[in-house]
Amino acid sequence: MQFEDVLKGAKSEGKEKHVPVIEVGKGKGEAGVDIVHVVVGKEVPHPNTVEHHIDWIELFGVKKDGQVIELGRTAFAPSYANPNVRYQVLVAEFKAFCALSYCNIHGVWENCLEL
Ligand SMILES: [Fe+2]
Repeated sequence: MQFEDVLKGAKSEGKEKHVPVIEVGKGKGEAGVDIVHVVVGKEVPHPNTVEHHIDWIELFGVKKDGQVIELGRTAFAPSYANPNVRYQVLVAEFKAFCALSYCNIHGVWENCLEL
């Protein structure tokens, strides 16, 4: 088994939404900085209880030469913090962004956005 065998994406989605949605806002942050926004449950909120929640999100950037950079990881306190995070990133350095999200019941989910 390889790690790719346990990652789930849009094809595995059921009623609850787990796939991390990635949005890029060039110059949309304070003082005109670039923002990469990652959210789980954008359209259908995921449960956020101690028993069932999104525990963390990780964001990776793929540089134009193919190098993968881990840009950030955010852990959430269930019931207090929603899985919705903005990273301040030099977007022009990257050709794609990929995110992982982890649900304590339903596993690890992936998504990528090519620019
Ligand atoms: Fe879940």
